[in-house]
Amino acid sequence: MSTSIHITAWAIGIILFLVTFFMYKNKNPKSKMLHMIVRLLYIIIFITGFLLFWGVMKQINNHYQMLYGFKMLGGLWVIAAMEITLVSISKGKNPAAGWIQFIIAFLIVLYLGLSLPLGWYEFK
Ligand code: HEM
Repeated sequence: MSTSIHITAWAIGIILFLVTFFMYKNKNPKSKMLHMIVRLLYIIIFITGFLLFWGVMKQINNHYQMLYGFKMLGGLWVIAAMEITLVSISKGKNPAAGWIQFIIAFLIVLYLGLSLPLGWYEFK
């Protein structure tokens, strides 16, 4: 499993998440359908991330293991935050709590992803 497939999956997921958010906001009747596609992407993001995680866990036995664990939890948190944001806007509730979580979780996960050795390794 390569990191580029994972990156493609979450990049498309986040773009469609943003599109879906504004469609709900504008009460577009197709927003529910797009929301289902975003949910499908959650699964693809999780599977590609989990396969990376699994591949690494078979090979390493050092402190990076824990950082990879945090990376997985962080990734799940980003997904949860996207879903919370979309569900609240779809019900006409204030989406601020979802947005705040999304931004915090995304920054943490971006930092962790770029600190870990595979693929982009910007923060060594
Ligand atoms: C929307 C949610 C997610 C975002 C924004 C995200 C973001 C990232 C980023 C920026 C990287 C670094 C790519 C690279 O180094 O080339 C990465 C790598 C990785 N992600 Fe995710 N991820 C998400 C979800 C997940 C999930 C759910 C899992 C686990 C089930 C996961 C596991 C991994 C693993 C194991 C790596 C490889 C780390 C490395 O050594 O570079 N990710 N992700």
